[in-house]
Amino acid sequence: MVVSLSRRGDVEPFHAMDVLAEANRLKAKGVPVVSMAVGQPSDPAPAGVRQAATHALKMGRIGYTDALGLAGLREAIAQHYADHYGLAVSPGRIAVTTGSSAAFNLAFLAMFDPGDRVAIAAPGYPAYRNIMAALGIEIVEIELDGDAYLHAEHLKAAHRERKLKGVLFASPANPTGAIIPADELSALVTTAQELGIAVISDEIYHRLAYAAPDTTALACGPDVTVINSFSKYYCMTGWRIGWMVLPEPLVRPVERIAQSLYISPPELSQIAAIEAFKATAELEAVKARYAGNRQLLMKRLPELGFTLAAPMDGAFYAFCDVTRHTNDSMAFARKMLAEAYVAATPGRDFDPLQGHRAMRFSYAGSHDEMVEAMMRIERWLR
Ligand SMILES: Cc1ncc(COP(=O)(O)O)c(C=O)c1O
Repeated sequence: MVVSLSRRGDVEPFHAMDVLAEANRLKAKGVPVVSMAVGQPSDPAPAGVRQAATHALKMGRIGYTDALGLAGLREAIAQHYADHYGLAVSPGRIAVTTGSSAAFNLAFLAMFDPGDRVAIAAPGYPAYRNIMAALGIEIVEIELDGDAYLHAEHLKAAHRERKLKGVLFASPANPTGAIIPADELSALVTTAQELGIAVISDEIYHRLAYAAPDTTALACGPDVTVINSFSKYYCMTGWRIGWMVLPEPLVRPVERIAQSLYISPPELSQIAAIEAFKATAELEAVKARYAGNRQLLMKRLPELGFTLAAPMDGAFYAFCDVTRHTNDSMAFARKMLAEAYVAATPGRDFDPLQGHRAMRFSYAGSHDEMVEAMMRIERWLR
C-alpha cells in the first residue's frame, strides 16, 4: 500500500479543540462544565430562518444552486449593505459561500499564488494561518505587541522589509474583540492600496459592536474583498453559510473555482438565510445579553487577575494576559477545566509566539453561566 502525504497537510492542529474535547468528555460523565471556550452563540437561529427551512424541506427537493448562490439571497445581502451601511453594492459582486471558511479558501485561491506574502495580525484567528499554509502562501505575522489592532504603520514596516501581496484583518477581531476605528481603518486600506497590497476584510463579527457603529472596509473603495457570515450575529454556525463582496475582476475567477471546489453552497441554508435579515428584533435581544455578559466580565476578569489585553469593543470575547497566574496558558486552561470545571481557550492557537501568556474567554453563553464561571474561578484561585 502506498500512502502519499503532502507537506500541505502538515498544518498546526487547533490546540483549543483538545480543551474542548476534554470539556465534552467531562460533560458526558455528568460534570457540570461551564464552557467559555467556544466561539459560537448559544441561541438557535432566528425563528423565521428555521420556519423557512422547515417549509423548504416539506415542499420538496433541495439541490444545487448557481455556484455564486441563489439570486434571492444575493439580492438580500446587497440590500443589507444599503440598509446597514448606506452603501450601494450590486448583487453581481456577491458570492454566497459555505460559511466564511469556504470564502477564505476561495479568496486566497483566486487572489494569491504559492509563495505570495500575505500579512495577518498576531494574535489572530488561526484558520487564516492554517489555510494559507496549506495553500503554500507565505504568511507574514505582524505581532501587535500590545497594540489593540493592525494599523497603517504596521503594514508599511512589514512591506518595507519585504514586499507584501496581501493583507487580511478582522474588525471586530477574534480573539481580542478589538475594533479598528473608522479613521484608522480608512488609513490602513488607503495605505495598502497605495503600496499595491490587496485587502481582505473579515467582517464576520459585524453587528456585534458595543460602542461604535460598524464601518465596512467596502466604504474605502470597491477593490477590497469583504468576507462575512451568518454564523455569529445571526446564530447560524451549523448552517455553514457566509458570503463575500468581491471586486468586479475577482467575480468570475471565484465563480470558476467555486464551481469545481464546492459546486454550490447548501441550498437549504441559502433559502433559510434570506430570512435572517428580517430577524433584527430577535437578534438584538441576543446581543443585549452579550452586552450584559461583557459588562460583567470587564469588571470580574481584571479583579481575578486576568488583565484585559485588548479593549472588549466587539464580538463576544475577552482576551486576557494571564501572566499573574501562569506562563503556560495551555496547562493553566487544562487545570482550570479539571479543577474548576470552567473551559476557556489558551492563547497558543491565536499567537504561536506570545500565546502562552494569554487566554480567551467567550461570553456568548447565558448570563447565569458567566456569573457561575466567575465564581468558580474565584474560588479555585483562592
Ligand atoms: C474571525 C473569524 N473568521 C471566520 C470564522 C469562520 O466562521 P464560519 O466559517 O462559521 O463563517 C470564525 C469562526 O470562529 C472567526 O472567528
